[in-house]
Amino acid sequence: MSAATESQDRSQDGSQRRLNVGLIGAGNISGQYLQTLNRLEDLNLVGVADLDLDRARQVAEAGGAQGMSVDELLASPEVEAVINLTIPRAHAETSLAAIAEGKGVYVEKPFAATVAQGQQMLAAAETAGVVMGSAPDTVLGTGVQTARTAVDAGQIGTPISAVATMVTAGHESWHPNPDFYYQPGGGPLLDMGPYYVTSLITLLGPVASVIGASSALRTEREIGSGPRAGEKLPVSTPSHITGALIHESGAISTLVMSFDGTASQAPPIEVHGTEGSMAVPDPNHFAGEVLLARDRDGWQPVETAGGYIQAGRGYGLADLLWSGAFDGDPTLGRAQGALGLHVLEVMAGVLTAAETGASVTISSRADRPSAVPLDPR
Ligand SMILES: NC(=O)c1ccc[n+]([C@@H]2O[C@H](COP(=O)([O-])OP(=O)(O)OC[C@H]3O[C@@H](n4cnc5c(N)ncnc54)[C@H](O)[C@@H]3O)[C@@H](O)[C@H]2O)c1
Repeated sequence: MSAATESQDRSQDGSQRRLNVGLIGAGNISGQYLQTLNRLEDLNLVGVADLDLDRARQVAEAGGAQGMSVDELLASPEVEAVINLTIPRAHAETSLAAIAEGKGVYVEKPFAATVAQGQQMLAAAETAGVVMGSAPDTVLGTGVQTARTAVDAGQIGTPISAVATMVTAGHESWHPNPDFYYQPGGGPLLDMGPYYVTSLITLLGPVASVIGASSALRTEREIGSGPRAGEKLPVSTPSHITGALIHESGAISTLVMSFDGTASQAPPIEVHGTEGSMAVPDPNHFAGEVLLARDRDGWQPVETAGGYIQAGRGYGLADLLWSGAFDGDPTLGRAQGALGLHVLEVMAGVLTAAETGASVTISSRADRPSAVPLDPR
């Protein structure tokens, strides 16, 4: 039995404590976190902070918590863990400040804007002995976890390859402040890649090396909604990226991440093995149908067999809590910063490989997280 599974059993006997949580970054995605925080009793929201205090107060009110400045939240002895929903280039500064106050951190993806910053965050958390967790947690839902169960049960035989495809027109059509998506630290790979790469590692294990190619043929983008609608944004990072990930197992994943299309009919992820092929639902969602093709019967739906049934954004932190990460061993649980850093290094490696034309060796190692048994929480 894995450590995560053992500690889940422990939490089900009622010994689980509540975790007092502070949220930093009251922007677009904070509403989805509030839904989870308002529903899960084990996560107790006590404070919300943002550079924009009015925004912090609004979100705090919706979550039954106090709005405050970042300094106040970090100084609060009540806050045990920080959910960091700031923009990617602020992830390191805000996470390091929280760690310095002895607080655990669960940070949105991508783990950091650069690998060096990510390494600094993980090292600081290790030295301080605090939890350093990382999104995405969509992979803990029933979609990817049912696929994981099928792989572990040998349903596709030995995995050989995977293809992950994300092609859209870009977030500027709906996000009112999409600037960061077209700056270094953004782009389709660093923004959407975490869902796909984390899923590929969950299914096929860690990555040893990568190659890549990229382009940015559209040099400006137009904001499509909100008060800045019509404003043009310069593009300073690749908006179309193709990569190949060579997993330690020898399996090879092909990745296409693009804000330069209109739509795609390709399955988000397909995995092929010696005995069958599998279609995995959108890894940016928690649930969805897994399809399996093993013989001439064609594609058949797979019965839901793993994952948190009610999962929503924030379950990565709940999983760390339920796995015992806040009870003395911060390395317990699945949505670990070490995995977030490995995913970031893989993505940065693809971008470097695209720039240089050379293969990039991935130096960080993260264990393939243990499977999530079907869990009603
Ligand atoms: N929007 C989405 O659909 C979505 C989905 C999943 C994950 N995410 C991730 O969540 C994070 C936030 O995304 P968003 O869309 O909510 O962004 P956003 O721009 O809407 O909100 C970010 C908030 O963080 C605040 N902030 C920035 N720097 C700060 C700092 N140093 N200290 C305190 N507050 C600061 C800003 O004032 C803003 O209110 C990003 O990492 C993003 O990749 C976003």
